[in-house]
Amino acid sequence: MSDAPIGDPSPVGNPSPVGDPSPVGDPVSQPQAPSPAPASNGDRRALMEVRHLQVLFPVKSGLIIDRTVAHVHAVDDVSFTLTEGETLGVVGESGCGKTTLIRTLVRLIDATGGQIRFRDRDITRASRRAMQPIRRDVQMVFQDPQASLNPRKRISQILATPLKLRGVPNDQVETESRRLLERVGMRAEHLSRFPHEFSGGQRQRIGIARALAVNPKLILLDEPVSALDVSIQAQVINLLDELQDDLGLSYVFVAHDLSVVRHVSDRIAVMYLGKMMELSPSEELYTKPIHPYTSALLAAIPIPDPKENRERTRTKVVGEVPSPIDPPVGCRFAGRCPRATDICREVEPQLTEYAGGHAAACHHPQNVTAQEIAAATRSPLSPLHSGEQMPTHTA
Ligand SMILES: Nc1ncnc2c1ncn2[C@@H]1O[C@H](COP(=O)(O)OP(=O)(O)O)[C@@H](O)[C@H]1O
Ligand code: SF4
Ligand SMILES: [Mg+2]
Repeated sequence: MSDAPIGDPSPVGNPSPVGDPSPVGDPVSQPQAPSPAPASNGDRRALMEVRHLQVLFPVKSGLIIDRTVAHVHAVDDVSFTLTEGETLGVVGESGCGKTTLIRTLVRLIDATGGQIRFRDRDITRASRRAMQPIRRDVQMVFQDPQASLNPRKRISQILATPLKLRGVPNDQVETESRRLLERVGMRAEHLSRFPHEFSGGQRQRIGIARALAVNPKLILLDEPVSALDVSIQAQVINLLDELQDDLGLSYVFVAHDLSVVRHVSDRIAVMYLGKMMELSPSEELYTKPIHPYTSALLAAIPIPDPKENRERTRTKVVGEVPSPIDPPVGCRFAGRCPRATDICREVEPQLTEYAGGHAAACHHPQNVTAQEIAAATRSPLSPLHSGEQMPTHTA
């Protein structure tokens, strides 16, 4: 078994299913109706509620008759609520289901089970037509701006399509395009150029301008700065921050390591092998990680603050991420976790809510006292098949 260090962004044993890559409509273990859960985080209104979301991709075999022989558990019973104006960071190693999760939120992929509500409307199985206005409210920005911008179109054409979709009259499209480009720190004369004439950072700004063209409420950002130099990353993140303040946007910001999302996120969700492991207010995740997997992710990034560096518990893990085709029962991290015991290999841990809106799915949490565990409760966002056992305190 080769050791795959945590934080390594290389893909994990990705299966290549033969045939139709679309997810299955008939799940292996379909979650039941979503359970009630707090609708909002603090006083703000819920914008999107995700309950027990599951996406399974069929793995097919057979030359003549396509048979489904297994399923890739890409997203497996994930729940959260995103509030208006909030940025939720979603972090985890490559292959843990981040892209599948956000593509499913905007219905580019159909959910196998669970529910997605946008502004109180169930959109999980909404028709194409019913999704049209929601597709304007929820936009995506992709990791690779080069691939997501049509190389044969000028920037003016790239921006004109969404502007017209928003109902901007033809004679105002150019003025509006200039305004948009300037809004993202580009110049009006860039309108006549093609995507290849720009740097990676500029292309990502254009991708953001295109998303903004339809006046969205929510932008799903799939590793929007991973392909950029570190200095450019900060500029793009600052731009996203400003836009959020000015326009009241909400973001789901996906990244494969914890260094990028710290300052942009209000809360951070940590994913591992299709499951949500921890959900925490941003700063607290860095100073008091409860889940051993989060500690392992943190150990993989440099910490500028020496005090925080000294105080943080570091978890070193080895081993490979298991296959998402046949994920382990119990805790999916058990095979790599230094704190694992028998119960971890047998019972899926519930998502437990600690003080301050901090939740983690672990039988033997770190950085919490016996008193904090005694005061904790089972989260209504817990996976449907998780156990009822409360975590036990381990020093
Ligand atoms: N269309 C597809 N068909 C089959 N498996 C897929 C498909 N898309 C993604 N997967 C698998 O689902 C898992 C999650 O992938 P993905 O959401 O891309 O993860 P991440 O974005 O975190 O890297 C991976 O094992 C990946 O190989
Ligand atoms: S439940 Fe057990 S195996 Fe999973 S992270 Fe916690 S201690 Fe480790
Ligand atoms: Mg991805």
